[in-house]
Amino acid sequence: MTDPLLNVEELSIAFRQRRGELTVVRDVSFDVGVGEVVGLVGESGSGKSVSCRSILRLMPAHGVMRARAIEFLGRDVTKLSDRELRDHRRHNVGMVFQDPYSCLNPTQRVGEQVAEALRVNAGMSKIDARARTIELFESVGIDRGAERQRSYPHELSGGMRQRVMIAIAISAGPKLLIGDEPTTALDVTTQAQILALMSRLRDDTGMAVLLVSHDFGVVAQVCDRVVVMYGGRVMESGPVTQVCTEPQHPYTRALLESIPRLEAAGRRVRREGIPGQPPNPADVGEGCPFADRCAHASARCSSVDMSLRPVGPSHVTACPFVGEWSDPPGATESSRVGGPS
Ligand SMILES: Nc1ncnc2c1ncn2[C@@H]1O[C@H](COP(=O)(O)OP(=O)(O)O)[C@@H](O)[C@H]1O
Ligand code: SF4
Ligand SMILES: [Mg+2]
Repeated sequence: MTDPLLNVEELSIAFRQRRGELTVVRDVSFDVGVGEVVGLVGESGSGKSVSCRSILRLMPAHGVMRARAIEFLGRDVTKLSDRELRDHRRHNVGMVFQDPYSCLNPTQRVGEQVAEALRVNAGMSKIDARARTIELFESVGIDRGAERQRSYPHELSGGMRQRVMIAIAISAGPKLLIGDEPTTALDVTTQAQILALMSRLRDDTGMAVLLVSHDFGVVAQVCDRVVVMYGGRVMESGPVTQVCTEPQHPYTRALLESIPRLEAAGRRVRREGIPGQPPNPADVGEGCPFADRCAHASARCSSVDMSLRPVGPSHVTACPFVGEWSDPPGATESSRVGGPS
């Protein structure tokens, strides 16, 4: 067990609408230890992005965030003053998104953008920032840094642009790097390289990583622990090996079964997604939000208590009926792409 870095407790997020508030995240709790790589996985609309933005208190004006606590190194982020919040955003947490192109300034050389981040976030002088930019390029795997820093974003590949974004995100030496679908726009090979980079940065710097993805295969490749979200709630969480080999929630199983597999010939084959659609937040209320897609649902599921129950060491599930449908341990398939080795 690592020392605690981030502890999110009973987070709820709603958006104000003309007819009251629409709740999109309900009672979500999870934590990240120092140097740990934690995955937040679930289909689109599960509430992953809004949940991880709350760690930086990044909410649109019509967003309402409530939490028992969002503690970062023991300090409650919900109670920081404006100045403390600015420091928290600059120094504690770096963030990268799916589309690096839209985050970079198309008219400015990438080296200048990294140097600017170093000046603003790490308070470096112009000269120091220039030298450090080359080092940062090296640490994120951009070779010929002195030459590449003069490139404009459109002159770089998607993978290289994501490396530039990661350089900017880690410029102030954050304790946590949040990657919100950082590899979703990339081809499979580049995706694996970026995941390996994030993993190496953790090993080299001790920085923790919160990796958000709709793809369990991505999360399984690099994460120590995983938190599975659906309909704005946590369905299951636990050590990634445990959750992949003995999933204790029907939704987790369905997600795992929809991971693309490698055929014998080495071809990647996309499998059927989960039948049905994720719920509209307006239709989520009491009971299990997965009920209308769950093969094991019965009438009692519409009013079930969604508290997380322990099913193993650091492993919890929101399905109270797990003993009634789960296979004996080890009975699930194991040859998934990117599954833990
Ligand atoms: N700015 C916003 N205003 C209103 N609704 C939003 C906003 N951002 C996200 N939502 C809604 O919140 C829910 C969760 O969104 P999000 O966190 O982006 O999901 P995910 O990242 O898991 O795909 C979705 O129903 C989405 O439509
Ligand atoms: S509570 Fe019911 S609907 Fe929800 S996952 Fe468990 S069995 Fe399925
Ligand atoms: Mg998202």
